[in-house]
Amino acid sequence: MIQHATEKSQVHSPRAGLDLHAEILRLKKELHAVILAHYYQEDEIQDLADFVGDSLGLSQQASQTSADVIVFCGVHFMAETAKILNPAKQVLLPDTDAGCSLADRCPPEAFQKFLLQYPGHTVVTYINSRAEIKAMSDIICTSSNAEHIVRQIPPDQPIVFAPDRHLGRWVMKQTGREMVLWPGFCVVHEQFSERQLLKIKSQYPQAKIIAHPECVDTVLRWADFVGSTTALLKYVTQSPQRQFIVLTEIGILHSMRKARPDAELIPLPPSNGCNCSTCPYMRLNTVEKLYVCMRDRTPEILIEEPIRLRAFQGVRRMLEMS
Ligand code: 13P
Ligand code: SF4
Repeated sequence: MIQHATEKSQVHSPRAGLDLHAEILRLKKELHAVILAHYYQEDEIQDLADFVGDSLGLSQQASQTSADVIVFCGVHFMAETAKILNPAKQVLLPDTDAGCSLADRCPPEAFQKFLLQYPGHTVVTYINSRAEIKAMSDIICTSSNAEHIVRQIPPDQPIVFAPDRHLGRWVMKQTGREMVLWPGFCVVHEQFSERQLLKIKSQYPQAKIIAHPECVDTVLRWADFVGSTTALLKYVTQSPQRQFIVLTEIGILHSMRKARPDAELIPLPPSNGCNCSTCPYMRLNTVEKLYVCMRDRTPEILIEEPIRLRAFQGVRRMLEMS
């Protein structure tokens, strides 16, 4: 049984009037900590971080850091990956309820049963998964290297790809490889619909459509560019175009606006009636919780060593193959 994190201890809110920004920077020095943040974090957290990136970039940073404490502003599987790479360091996550629909809907017992149906398959697992799932996998991948990693597997070797069926289908299309897919999906990206996209496109006919590969196939086929959050940011930064319809979580717009203040960024509204697409898990982290977790040095990510060791093999292979 894995320990996902320490129990949520009783949280004492910060004193009223405290300059949280200054306190976080003070604690960072005191703890010799590094703050890593995903692009889907709220703007203020991104601005406080030492490094903002996608899942691969954050894993690479976590594997290279000399800090004693890693404060991870992202979701649970990301902080867990940092711990897999750094067993001797303390890894803090401001809110341990910051999960992920892909990770939560791929439970270890069911996945183990699923794999029994596919002996001899290479198991390629998206990083959006729990440590126990990584421990059952051969190679871990992220949205930025999934295609590159699958291409390196010998063509006659059968593959199981989990847990995102949309990313899996996208990789199958790009590589021409058949893969067995676990039927998982992201609750945020699955909400983008073709109908909504075509409606917005008719209003902005010149705009480039850029999408994360967790989106459904019917919207991905309209995209001018498909890539991880870092790849989408790079595309906007380097493109001569001025208008972009963005199909991913809106947190990325903060970095895109900084890189291209002249560009018009049009987030696609999801089909669930909301105005914009935010990841409910990512948004559980707040500046206040970031301060409290650094002040109290909890909640901390803990993983049982045998699971961590097995999960590490797949993460290490990913970093080597990237
Ligand atoms: P990235 O690989 O682009 O960081 O995406 C992670 C994620 O959770 C997307 O929903
Ligand atoms: Fe998970 Fe989707 Fe949130 Fe990414 S956006 S962390 S895949 S629920």
